[in-house]
Amino acid sequence: MGEQTTAGEFDGHERRMWAGAADAYAGSFAALCGATAGALLDAAEVRAGTRVLDVGTGPGTVAAAALALGAEVVAVDAEPGMVALAAANAPGAQVRHAVLPALPFPDDAFDAAVANFVVNHVEDPRAALRELRRVVRPGGRVAVTIWHGTENSAMSLFGLALDEAGVRRPARPTLPVDFARTAEGLRGLLEQAGWAEAVGRELAWTHREHPEVWWSGPAGGVAGIGMTVTGQPPATVARIKSAYDRLAAERVAGDGLIDIPALALLASGRRQETR
Ligand SMILES: C[S@@+](CC[C@H](N)C(=O)[O-])C[C@H]1O[C@@H](n2cnc3c(N)ncnc32)[C@H](O)[C@@H]1O
Repeated sequence: MGEQTTAGEFDGHERRMWAGAADAYAGSFAALCGATAGALLDAAEVRAGTRVLDVGTGPGTVAAAALALGAEVVAVDAEPGMVALAAANAPGAQVRHAVLPALPFPDDAFDAAVANFVVNHVEDPRAALRELRRVVRPGGRVAVTIWHGTENSAMSLFGLALDEAGVRRPARPTLPVDFARTAEGLRGLLEQAGWAEAVGRELAWTHREHPEVWWSGPAGGVAGIGMTVTGQPPATVARIKSAYDRLAAERVAGDGLIDIPALALLASGRRQETR
C-alpha cells in the first residue's frame, strides 16, 4: 500500500477529500476535534492581544476560541467551503484561503501559530512546520495536534461496520517521509522543523455523540472514511449503515449517546530568539 505514491499525490487526495465536505464536517466530526482547542491555545500561550494564526481552521472552532480569549486571529484553510464557514463562525477573525506549506504572510507576522488536526493532512509536514516557523516572530509559539496512531481510534466503530459489511478500505497515498504517530514522534517533527523547546504529550478523552450525528460524517463524505463510504454503490452503503446501526445499538447509553474513545497528540515549541 502506498508504494506508488508520487509527489503531490497525497496533497491532491486531501484536496479531493475535503472538497465540498465543510458542512458535513461541521455537523459531525468538528465537535470531536474542537475538544482540544483549549489545550492547543494554552500550549501556544494565546492570550488577549496575541496575534495568532490558525492554519487548517476548518469551520473556525479554534479561531472562535482564540477570539473569545481576546486574541487577534488570522485563519486559513485549503478548502474554500471551510473558509466561508470559518468566516461565518468566527466573525472578527481575518479568514482567507491558503494551502500549506506556502502561506501568504511575511516573516515574523504572528506571535503564535496553531494547527488542530491539520499536520496529519499535509504531504510534507516538516515543510509545513518550517513555514509556520517563518511566519512566527522570534520567541513566538507553535502548537499542533494530530491523532495518535492507535488502532483503537475514534473512527474504529466505522471500521468495524465496514468489516462486517465486507467492504475493503481503499489504499490511501502515504507520506514520502513519514513520522511516528506518538507524542515523541510529533515532538521530534517540530524539532526537525527547527522549533526549540519542543514537547509532546497525549490527550485522551471520551467524546459522546448521538449515533446518527456520528454517522452523518461518513454519510456526508467527510475524511477518509467518508470517501470510502460515499464511493460505494447505494446497496453497499445500506449494508454498512445497517452494520453500523447494530454496532452502535450495542454501545448506546441510556441518554441515547455513544461513547467514542479519543486519543490525540499535542506538541508545542518556541521559535528561538535568533534565526
Ligand atoms: C480535520 S480538519 C480540522 C479543522 C479544524 N482545525 C478543526 O479543529 O476542526 C482538517 C482541515 O485542514 C484543512 N487542510 C488540509 N490540508 C491543508 C493544507 N495543506 N493547507 C491548509 N489547510 C489544509 C482541511 O481543509 C480541513 O479543513
